[in-house]
Amino acid sequence: MVPADLPCRLSERRDFMVRAMMPTDVPAMARLMASSDPWPRYGVTEEQATSTLHDFVERQTKNPGDYACLVAELDGEPVGFLVMLYSGCFGMSSYIKLVGVREDRRRTGAGTALLRAAENLAFARGPNVFLLVSHFNTSAIRFYEKMGYQRVGVIADYVVAGIDEILYRKSRGPIAEEPRMTQEHRIAQEPWIKQEPRVT
Ligand SMILES: CC(C)(COP(=O)(O)OP(=O)(O)OC[C@H]1O[C@@H](n2cnc3c(N)ncnc32)[C@H](O)[C@@H]1OP(=O)(O)O)[C@@H](O)C(=O)NCCC(=O)NCCS
Repeated sequence: MVPADLPCRLSERRDFMVRAMMPTDVPAMARLMASSDPWPRYGVTEEQATSTLHDFVERQTKNPGDYACLVAELDGEPVGFLVMLYSGCFGMSSYIKLVGVREDRRRTGAGTALLRAAENLAFARGPNVFLLVSHFNTSAIRFYEKMGYQRVGVIADYVVAGIDEILYRKSRGPIAEEPRMTQEHRIAQEPWIKQEPRVT
């Protein structure tokens, strides 16, 4: 649902442009992942990060209704990324799988711009957004809490023994109470959706 050639959000704080991730963004974003906790703690190498991100970019192209892969760009350079699966949580709700900002650009609003753009996409489809964060990742926890996410559970030993994954949720209410959004409503919220190139 994120057209490759169209900017979709600007941060209020800096001139970040959030747009669809492209294959050319992958090397820089993979370097970011491989060099920045929490990923090295899970043994993620640059090669693995490259393969993962290329895979998501490809999935987004093939199934734009299922994935959103975004980058935040500053002065023409990608400085952060986010990957979201629209039905990635319980098969019913959006799940933010990956988010990262280059270390030298943190605390300048790039993470906020990415998360806000993802939330706009997610809330056009349903009233909940979920994510997991490792218990040791205190800066990300502060970030998510600042952004209005609430801790809803702890999954012990989920990925690695001894590390808790904390489940966070941002919600606009129960799924059953959310009126189904019409395509017109979605387009009103995200005018560029109608220009989405659908690949089957
Ligand atoms: C978490 C992360 C994406 C945040 O991105 P960011 O661009 O630095 O976030 P922002 O600048 O938009 O921060 C927004 C607010 O979040 C909070 N916040 C962000 N980082 C914080 C930190 N290290 N300590 C305390 N609060 C923090 C602050 O309230 C901040 O607002 P302020 O700067 O006005 O005080 C970034 O730190 C990162 O890439 N971390 C490494 C990867 C990672 O942990 N990803 C999450 C995996 S689940």
